[in-house]
Amino acid sequence: MSSNAHITGWGMAVPEKVLTNQELEMMVDTNDEWIRSRTGIEERRIASDDETTASLATEAAINALRVAKLPPSQVDLIIVATSTPEYLFPATACLVQDRIGATTAGAFDLLAACSGFIYALNMAAETIRGGSNKNALVIGSETLSRVVDWTDRGTCILFGDGAGAFVLQASDEPGGIRSSVMRSDGSGGDLLWIPGGGSAEPATNQTVDDSHHFIRMNGREVFRFATRVMARSSEEAIKKAGMEVEDIDLIIPHQANLRIIDAAARGLKLPMERFAVNVQKYGNTSTASIPIAAVEAIEEGRINPGDNLVLVGFGAGLTWGALVATWTGPFAELKPIRMRRYRRLARVRSFLLRWARRLGAIFFGRRGDSA
Ligand SMILES: CC(C)(COP(=O)(O)OP(=O)(O)OC[C@H]1O[C@@H](n2cnc3c(N)ncnc32)[C@H](O)[C@@H]1OP(=O)(O)O)[C@@H](O)C(=O)NCCC(=O)NCCS
Repeated sequence: MSSNAHITGWGMAVPEKVLTNQELEMMVDTNDEWIRSRTGIEERRIASDDETTASLATEAAINALRVAKLPPSQVDLIIVATSTPEYLFPATACLVQDRIGATTAGAFDLLAACSGFIYALNMAAETIRGGSNKNALVIGSETLSRVVDWTDRGTCILFGDGAGAFVLQASDEPGGIRSSVMRSDGSGGDLLWIPGGGSAEPATNQTVDDSHHFIRMNGREVFRFATRVMARSSEEAIKKAGMEVEDIDLIIPHQANLRIIDAAARGLKLPMERFAVNVQKYGNTSTASIPIAAVEAIEEGRINPGDNLVLVGFGAGLTWGALVATWTGPFAELKPIRMRRYRRLARVRSFLLRWARRLGAIFFGRRGDSA
C-alpha cells in the first residue's frame, strides 16, 4: 500500500523591520492610496543586514519541525524553493541542512519563482508516495529586498522578505496532498526577470552600472497572465482530486496583489471569505507567501484537520500551479521536542566537521594531492 504525504508541521519567519507605504512615499514617486488601491499592500518586511534567505529559512524550518515534533535527524529531504538563494551554489537547502543538523537528509533548491512552493511540495510529496522518503521539509524563503531596484516604483512597492515551511510525513491514513497541477510558459520569461548575474550576463561593472541585477517586470502583462491562470489551475487541481469547488474549505493563493486574488475568487465563483489573504501585511514574498498565509490562517483557527485546501500560485518563468491538500496536523502520539537543543548540537557538529576537514587537509592533504 503506498503512503500518503501529510502536512504535519508548519512555521514561518519574517524580519522585524516593517516598511510602510508612507515610508516608500519618501523613497520614490508613489503614494499610499495608489499602492493600496492597485495592490492591497499596506506594508512589507525587510531583512536586516544579518538576515539572509538561509537564516529566515532555518527559523521557519525549526518552527515547522517543532510543530510536527520531528527531530531534524529524521528528515530525509529538504527542498528550499527560492528566487533569492544565498549563493548561486551551494544550495540554500544545504545551509539549512547544516544549521538544523539534518544529518541524513538530501537537500536541494528549486527555482520556479513564486510558484516554487507548490512545485516543491509536489516534488516532496511524490518522493513520499513513491516510498523513497518518509519525512520531508519544504521551505519557501526570500530576501527580495536585495534584488529590488529601490528607485523603480513599478516594482519596489510590491515585494517583501520572509520564509515559510511545511513538514510532510508519510502515513497510510487517507489525506495529505491529493492532487497537483504544474505548468509553465517560457515564452513569457522576459516579463519578469533578473537579466544579470547568471551565465548569460555574468556580473561586470557594466551590468552593475546598468542595474541588471535587479528585478525587471512588465506589470500589466504579468497581471493579465495571473488573472488568467489562478482560477483555471485551481479548478484543474480540484477536478484531479475528484472534488468540486464546493468541497474546498479554504483557498491559499500566492499573495501578490489583492486584485489578482479577487479575480481568482470571481473566476471560481467563491466569496473572498474563502480565501486566505495577508498581502496587506507582507506584500509579495514570492515562494514564502503561500506558507506564511497558511501559518497565519492556522493561527486564526481557519484551518482544521480534515479541511480541504487549494494552494495556488503563479510567477516568473512563466510558471503556475495548484494543489489540493486535506489538512492533517501533527501526528498525535509524538512527544514535544526541544528544538533549541537540536540547534545547539547542529552548531557543534558543523564546527567539528569543519575542523576535522581542516586537520585532515594538514595531515593527509599532500598524500591526497599525489594520489
Ligand atoms: C504592478 C501593478 C500593481 C501596476 O498596476 P496597474 O494598475 O497595472 O498600473 P499600470 O502599470 O497600468 O500603471 C498605471 C499608472 O500608474 C503609474 N504607477 C506605476 N507604479 C506606480 C506607483 N508605485 N505609484 C504611483 N503610480 C505608479 C504608472 O506609471 C502609470 O502611469 P501612466 O498611466 O501615467 O503611465 C500591477 O500591474 C500588478 O500587480 N501586476 C502584477 C505584478 C505581480 O504580481 N508581480 C509578481 C508576480 S509573482
